Amino acid sequence: MAVLAAPVVAAVLLLTWAAYGEAQYVLYKDATKPVEARVTDLLARMTLAEKIGQMTQIERQVASPQVLKDYFIGSLLSGGGSVPRKQATAAEWVSMVSDFQKGSLSTRLGIPMIYGIDAVHGHNNVYGATIFPHNRIGAATALEVRATGIQYAFAPCIAVCRDPRWGRCYESYSEDHRIVQAMTELIPGLQGDVPANFTSGMPYVAGKNNVAACAKHFVGDGGTQNGVNEDNTIIDRRGLMTIHMPAYLNALQKGVSTVMISYSSWNGIKMHANHDLVTRYLKDRLNFKGFTISDWEGIDRITTPAGSNYSYSVQAGVLAGIDMIMVPNNYQSFISILTSHVNNGIIPMSRIDDAVTRILRVKFTMGLFENPMPDSSMADQLGKKEHRDLAREAVRKSLVLLKNGKTSDKPMLPLSKKAPKILVAGSHADNLGYQCGGWTIEWQGDTGRITVGMTILDAVKAAVDPSTTVVFAENPDADFVKNGGFSYAIVVVGEHPYTETKGDSLNMTIPDPGPSTVATVCGAAQCATVLISGRPVVVQPFLGAMDALVAAWLPGTEGQGVTDVLFGDYGFTGKLPRTWFKSVDQLPMNYGDAHYDPLFPLGFGLTTQPRTY
Ligand code: GLC
Repeated sequence: MAVLAAPVVAAVLLLTWAAYGEAQYVLYKDATKPVEARVTDLLARMTLAEKIGQMTQIERQVASPQVLKDYFIGSLLSGGGSVPRKQATAAEWVSMVSDFQKGSLSTRLGIPMIYGIDAVHGHNNVYGATIFPHNRIGAATALEVRATGIQYAFAPCIAVCRDPRWGRCYESYSEDHRIVQAMTELIPGLQGDVPANFTSGMPYVAGKNNVAACAKHFVGDGGTQNGVNEDNTIIDRRGLMTIHMPAYLNALQKGVSTVMISYSSWNGIKMHANHDLVTRYLKDRLNFKGFTISDWEGIDRITTPAGSNYSYSVQAGVLAGIDMIMVPNNYQSFISILTSHVNNGIIPMSRIDDAVTRILRVKFTMGLFENPMPDSSMADQLGKKEHRDLAREAVRKSLVLLKNGKTSDKPMLPLSKKAPKILVAGSHADNLGYQCGGWTIEWQGDTGRITVGMTILDAVKAAVDPSTTVVFAENPDADFVKNGGFSYAIVVVGEHPYTETKGDSLNMTIPDPGPSTVATVCGAAQCATVLISGRPVVVQPFLGAMDALVAAWLPGTEGQGVTDVLFGDYGFTGKLPRTWFKSVDQLPMNYGDAHYDPLFPLGFGLTTQPRTY
């Protein structure tokens, strides 16, 4: 055996040491390096398969740690109602997310996955979470989302709903873009406040108590003709830019990390295939540097019928500028087709690199590489009392008093807590699912005691004096009411839960027996009607019978927010965020229209003073 000379041995040792040292130092893993340097370093190391994996978001039900590893999947989501098990605890969510994350971290480059969920009015998929009135209180929501190990919320929806017949109108803050612009404050609530020297368009997430947010759905989702969901928004560019676009500028100024593309079309062009608005306007003109994401099977719906030409859908969606595709199920097909489009030169590598650069930028910025695993110590954030109190306050402030007394000199509210006997009636008085509405526990919401919370009936019983007898009758007959000796009645009726297209309505009436319950009870006793709905509905025909009318919207888990103002612990202050029509024949009708003849105008709301006991 040849004996190596000392200098050769020294050289080999030196090279080995250097190689070993080199193998240990990997720039993208160095948190002291600038994000852009880390992105560039990591991108340069990635294969096409690893890049396309980052662009792929799949549903948890088709995922496993092995799938995440084998396909380099960059993101997971829970669709509406997709949970580890019914009433899963925070710990069970954390365990599920941890297992998936271990799969991603076991890949060659160890790129952590980001898990998204529709936390659109609290962490609404999760049993026991605080359910806020839609679109409020970002910071508390972020903490409850993180309690389950999830780092990404598909919120806020900054749609400007221009026709309440749209099934998603309750997800929109208002018909007035200025209100929607103001309410983009949910973004710093979710993500944290951007620093002083922040550059608009860059993504920002302060740390592991925050989540990446998602401004949706870009753009014009709330302007479709007749409010038909996912349909066509017919408006000139000026109208699009002055009504539906302004809130996106606010969102970018506040560092929103992602933007979800709308199913809808603008003047016949599908948004998911709209390169002019997604790339040339949002990315190039507004300088958005986070990542865009498709909606659920959003690229499939580029074609009619949906999915009829998936190869074209992949090409059109990715070339339009969509960076991450919420596939969410047939990921093998998506990955195979996109790979083929790149290999055949149909989609340039530069487009893939732009998409992956944006995705990695968000992941590095939010610290996901440094903190990929859930923090199980945050479990107690889920449904904590401080958050419920916050939600209760939000409910109080969002209720709108539309009528108070048959004559203004005899207001009915606030109600007495010391009445001898009162009646609580109506389909929505003792139904937590109804008062939470859509996007709660189940995608379409549900009925009954669906999670932890207080119904309005619970809250009435808790609010009144012990000497007061509270009688509950969901749909009493007139004799029962007449002969009951009730000082007054509270009637709680409204819409049943719905989400997306299921909520599209042409008649805008509340389901039976709501109207007849109101007519019966209010015909036999002094009555305060509380309306549970995601939007203005038909009320004019029975407005005269009511002594008082409160629009309670979808108050979520905190029924006491409703009784706080009914009984005068707090005054009514809420104002209508949208026009309340007289008849559906008037729709669409928005503040500022030439012909504007509402039952109650945008901004209307009676006030009351808190009781001084
Ligand atoms: C839905 C909605 C979108 C939601 C996504 C994931 O279809 O359009 O708002 O974020 O799918 O659940």
